[in-house]
Amino acid sequence: MFIEIKNLHTYFHTDQGLVKSIQGVNFSIPAHSTTCLVGESGSGKSVTALSMMGLLPKKQAEVVQGEILFDGQDLLKMSPSQLRQMRGREMAMIFQEPMTSLNPGLTIGYQIQEALKIGQDLGKKESRQRALDLVKMVDLPRPEKILKAYPHQLSGGQRQRVMIAMGLANKPKLLIADEPTTALDVTIQAQVLCLLDQLKKKTGTAILLITHDLGVVAEMADYVVVMFHGRVVERGTVFEIFDQPAHPYTRALLAARPSINIHADGIESHVESIRVQASQEEIDQEEPFEEIWLSESHMVSIFANHQEVDHD
Ligand SMILES: Nc1ncnc2c1ncn2[C@@H]1O[C@H](COP(=O)(O)OP(=O)(O)OP(=O)(O)O)[C@@H](O)[C@H]1O
Ligand SMILES: [Mg+2]
Repeated sequence: MFIEIKNLHTYFHTDQGLVKSIQGVNFSIPAHSTTCLVGESGSGKSVTALSMMGLLPKKQAEVVQGEILFDGQDLLKMSPSQLRQMRGREMAMIFQEPMTSLNPGLTIGYQIQEALKIGQDLGKKESRQRALDLVKMVDLPRPEKILKAYPHQLSGGQRQRVMIAMGLANKPKLLIADEPTTALDVTIQAQVLCLLDQLKKKTGTAILLITHDLGVVAEMADYVVVMFHGRVVERGTVFEIFDQPAHPYTRALLAARPSINIHADGIESHVESIRVQASQEEIDQEEPFEEIWLSESHMVSIFANHQEVDHD
């Protein structure tokens, strides 16, 4: 286990009051694995990732409780400069829309070299060579030309590859990818994901992949973490989650997959019934939640004083 998130609570102070975005998130990321974080919109996936990276909007967001242990060290206790170093060297994140993370006024080559600078002291020539190697590694055509190009001269898929190259520049132990292919068309999506998977095998970087797409999960994940209303309701190996989903929400998610369409008709109402089952009051409550371990790796969390709704 090299990353452990324990009882993480992140809240936002908004004009409308306090938003308890995540409330007691627990999961771990084993080294060299791909862990997929799934759950409906607003369930707290991005907030979890941003909490890990120390990239929450400072004025509004606050981690009020919890630990994020990276090789045993709590990221939440680090100084901003220590955390910056961690971000450069040990972990990196790629976002859904690469255009927002790339500077439109600087060449790709310059930006990759800047990313390299954070992690290591390289001479100019070395750094240029390393940037070229990275662009080649992510299978971009005519790499020399790409290095001289500006972001707007590349396609969406090419820009996302550049982001992956930058993310991997300093050989991080963890790469967080938040919906990295949602903005791309389907064939490019598949290529980018396939590339991520290959790079993981080659470099040993663990991946935390946030996605809505269960097809992608089946394809990529070793472990799956299912979030619902700011909590982890179930986690396990990809086999445990797909073959023996225990939480009604996980079952509903899986049933909604087009490939196993048996329950598709009732799915909306089923998800709705779970929402109703989890009334806002209960969601806002800290307790009582019970974690039930079905195997060493398979955990389901239920309201302690609730009967589980049987899906079948
Ligand atoms: N900057 C913010 N200010 C206030 N509330 C926020 C902010 N960012 C996120 N939240 C709230 O935190 C909750 C979790 O949001 P988050 O972005 O993590 O969802 P998500 O699971 O990533 O959803 P999606 O799949 O749509 O990306 C939501 O209720 C959201 O409204
Ligand atoms: Mg999100």
